[in-house]
Amino acid sequence: MRGSLVGRVVSVSGSRVLARITEDIAGLEPIWDGRLHSVGQVGTVMKLPQGGSRLLAIVSGLAVVASTEATSDQDLHPDARQISMELVGEIDGAGVFNRGVSQWPGIDDPVHFVLTEDMATLFPRSSEKHLALGRVSSNMSVTATVDVGKLVSRHSAIVGSTGSGKSSAVASILQSVAKGPWPSASVVLFDAHGEYSSALGDDAKVVDLAMSQEPVLPYWVLPAGEILEIYCPNAVTPLYRELFAERVVEARRAFASGASWVAIPQIEIGADTPIPFDLKDVWFWLDTANRETFSDSAKTAHALTAAGDTSLLRSNQFRPHTPNNSVPYKGVNTGKLGTLPEQLRQRLLDPDFAFLREGDLASASSVDPLPMIISRILPITERISVVDTSLVPSRVAQQVVAALLGLLFELAKRRTRGGLGRDNPILAVVDEAHRYFGVEAVRARTNLERISREGRKYGVGLMLVTQRPSELPATALSQVGTIIGLRLNNQADQSIVAATMPDGLKNLVEVLPSLRNGEAIVAGEAISMPSRIQIRPPSPWPAGDDPEITAWNKSPKEIDLELNIAEWRERG
Ligand SMILES: Nc1ncnc2c1ncn2[C@@H]1O[C@H](COP(=O)(O)OP(=O)(O)OP(=O)(O)O)[C@@H](O)[C@H]1O
Ligand SMILES: [Mg+2]
Repeated sequence: MRGSLVGRVVSVSGSRVLARITEDIAGLEPIWDGRLHSVGQVGTVMKLPQGGSRLLAIVSGLAVVASTEATSDQDLHPDARQISMELVGEIDGAGVFNRGVSQWPGIDDPVHFVLTEDMATLFPRSSEKHLALGRVSSNMSVTATVDVGKLVSRHSAIVGSTGSGKSSAVASILQSVAKGPWPSASVVLFDAHGEYSSALGDDAKVVDLAMSQEPVLPYWVLPAGEILEIYCPNAVTPLYRELFAERVVEARRAFASGASWVAIPQIEIGADTPIPFDLKDVWFWLDTANRETFSDSAKTAHALTAAGDTSLLRSNQFRPHTPNNSVPYKGVNTGKLGTLPEQLRQRLLDPDFAFLREGDLASASSVDPLPMIISRILPITERISVVDTSLVPSRVAQQVVAALLGLLFELAKRRTRGGLGRDNPILAVVDEAHRYFGVEAVRARTNLERISREGRKYGVGLMLVTQRPSELPATALSQVGTIIGLRLNNQADQSIVAATMPDGLKNLVEVLPSLRNGEAIVAGEAISMPSRIQIRPPSPWPAGDDPEITAWNKSPKEIDLELNIAEWRERG
């Protein structure tokens, strides 16, 4: 063991150990075991043998301490270099790694480099329980694995500045899921840039919301409140909200009375029950209520000048009411809804909202359309489904992701044997999460917080991917069990990562700004101890990788702008 000796313990306080580096370690990067070792590099692992077991500690700092006899700088001796370490676990006599330590080292106990075989005990082989994430940075011959169960059910976050390798890490993990021993895996990935279909290829089903000709997510699947938020995002009045919900209940009940498959009694159908209805009917009622005038004081006969048309979204026209309470009379809500019904009409006509349309209501009365709709979006038969929101206007994308997360949670919560949820856990991966869960996205944040708090119970896991963790709700981040911290420069964001680290190891975040592309500090439940890992590059790469600047070398210059424009027109 002499050859791997690094130093000796000089102080122990709680899990913090200080060791003085031995004199004969020339410089700070000795070669041993065929590899160059970095003594005192923050994040590397040291070993402290204790009888039959071996304590492992992570280096948290390196310092030069002036010895008491020192009279000037020249008197400083290399052995006055000290490394500070945090004890994190123990390899027992049987060679098994456990978190926590059963005994503490004593003064003068030796501190060694870890051997490849020691490192290997930290990372179980990849198996149906463990996924290979990459290689340990300080010893690239060791494959770093993570516990898939914990990664999924205890939620995770991948954070890093732009271009640090977040999407590549997601692609790499999902490629492993797609190819690994998880034939019944269920992962839904929200793809903000349309970059994953190239990386996941045939292993995933891609649902392009904007391009879909069919209604992908008919509004009627959603609770009335969410429908209202999507179609009328501007401040709605309490009266409008109330009337809208009332009409949605009516409309859902009306549909149910004519649908052979609806088994629940009318009274149990509420504004949120996922039963089809036609939003145009709701619009027509609200629009009429806002316009109507009557030719009698009992308000039974409409003072109609032109009849509207629900399916064409054409309003009823009425004679204007008079101010002095004479013919024609106002209805109870005439004029009270302002422009809100018109907003709803505009959105019903807007092609950006096509994927939210009601679908074929006529045939829905004989067969329940919901199973088909859900299996089109969620990964029911395949391992991964990619929901591409790249061409959906961001205000809509935000609400749709919120709605889908809400839907996912509601389904999982009502688990039945063999259904989606505890029996078949599902992982929701949200790339560019800060886009969907900014402070203004109230419902999205609520749904996210609900899943982060209760998802584990119902088999819904989250993987939040972001360059701005400080913009995500703190409650959601505090529930994140595993953090994959890629290169990160911003101080505020670093402190979020620090908050997820065990005390004593918080200064590991100091290395975040200097990590290479695809290199990460991984810490938390899915990994035996915080480790610096070079994540396995995905193959193929997601389409969002850096563009080829060699195009600038081409001569003559040829840019087919018409192609860009055609795509822009067509796809919006
Ligand atoms: N594991 C890796 N190994 C080596 N290089 C990598 C790795 N991961 C990413 N890179 C490099 O970094 C580039 C950017 O990666 P990626 O698109 O995943 O970053 P990102 O963090 O998702 O960025 P953005 O925030 O802009 O979406 C890639 O094109 C690739 O060149
Ligand atoms: Mg990305």
